[in-house]
Amino acid sequence: MEKELNFLDKIVSFAKHRGFVFLSSEIYGGFSSCYDYGPLGVELKNNIKKLWWEEMTRNHSNIVGLDSAILMSPKVWEASGHLSAGFADTLVECKRCHHRFRSDLLEGRFCPDCNGELTEPRKFNLMMRTFVGPLQDESSLTYLRAETCQGIYVNFKNVVQSMRMKIPFGIAQIGKAFRNEITPKDFIFRTREFEQMEMQWFCNPSPKLKKQKEAIEGYSPDDWFEYWVKERMNWYYKIGFQKEHIRAREVPADELAHYARRAVDIEYCFPFGWKEIEGVHNRGNWDLSNHSKHSGQDLSYRDEEGKKFIPYIIETSAGVDRILFALLCEGFTEVKGGRDRSVDSPKEVEVVLKINKKLAPVTVAVLPLVKNKVRITKKAKEIFSFLKRYFNCQYDETGSIGRRYRRQDEIGTPFCITVDFESLKNDDVTIRDRDTMRQKRVKNSRLLRVLLKEMEN
Ligand code: GAP
Repeated sequence: MEKELNFLDKIVSFAKHRGFVFLSSEIYGGFSSCYDYGPLGVELKNNIKKLWWEEMTRNHSNIVGLDSAILMSPKVWEASGHLSAGFADTLVECKRCHHRFRSDLLEGRFCPDCNGELTEPRKFNLMMRTFVGPLQDESSLTYLRAETCQGIYVNFKNVVQSMRMKIPFGIAQIGKAFRNEITPKDFIFRTREFEQMEMQWFCNPSPKLKKQKEAIEGYSPDDWFEYWVKERMNWYYKIGFQKEHIRAREVPADELAHYARRAVDIEYCFPFGWKEIEGVHNRGNWDLSNHSKHSGQDLSYRDEEGKKFIPYIIETSAGVDRILFALLCEGFTEVKGGRDRSVDSPKEVEVVLKINKKLAPVTVAVLPLVKNKVRITKKAKEIFSFLKRYFNCQYDETGSIGRRYRRQDEIGTPFCITVDFESLKNDDVTIRDRDTMRQKRVKNSRLLRVLLKEMEN
């Protein structure tokens, strides 16, 4: 356990010192478990979102995108059930040190920080309140969204009509969500501001239609639920998680969210235990029927045979921050004594971030072998200017070549391109692979093609 906590400290320190994640408002002592993504963090985050978006809207048919507002009518949150007791945590406070905790995460009746006695549990709603307009009273009160999917439900009719969507179909959205968590903790695992990637799959509520049993048009909500759990698990394997580090956990009935008929949590084995990174939920007709009722608008769907029904919703809801955190834990690899002992490698530990090439914050580093030979640096800069139109590239001429390779290994750069003396004669470069450390010479005329092909492998 000590080793694992030590590992967590290493990840937090690595994330800060290599420009992935900074504490928000750090010069003022930080702010309320909020975090900022640094230059490499934002690239990694964007790549996660890009792969998810491609997976949902291109690799699956019949899913379209949406980008709805963070601020919505407060009536949305009344209808969704988020303002009632269902979307609340139970809070206890220590009578001695006044630290507050979620009672469901505590095992005993005494404070884990000072052993003091705890108060009786009371409900605490997680919605973040804000005011729109100059007056700050009940009439201007609204909320920062606690889940992005409500913006999808209130646009259900708009999307069906404008895009002529036929059930079953999905709407995907990426965006920020906010929850006034009682105990934000474990670095970026539980924060008050976070980002979600959610897909809502609208389907026929009836059980398998007999004549279409084998076709997907005949899938029941339960079939779709199983289908999406599998698809999402496969996505995690595809983006580089080891099978034994990801699992699907059936959520017991007494832990289900207020809208869910069934839920499976996709969990990653973080240094502090197995924890949820994505939830797959069967939300039934909870959302659309409640929004119909509260808005007075008919949100039912009419199929081609003229049959009217409120669709069921199967939701896949992933957290970008948690996936990024899990990827850092998964990829962070220490090599004792150095990787390449022949190249002025130090005796201390070297770090390699073993991360999917498509996710790596920098794809290609261009390195002139030496920085005091103008012909070499000029050529390297030309290659850099050309390649950065296609990839996220870094140019680095500072320090020995071995040290520069190590810097790139540490941030997970899959390819280092070196321009050396031979390059001047032969119009070629070397490409070094992060994982094998093997180098191959490639003519400049083929460089782009080779790199594009490598990225597809
Ligand atoms: N729309 C359904 C929904 O929001 P959820 O299980 O509450 O379901 C989905 O959240 C995902 O959002 C979680 O699996 C997690 O990755 C992320 N998430 C939720 N609360 C979070 C928090 N406080 N900090 C970081 N990520 C969070």
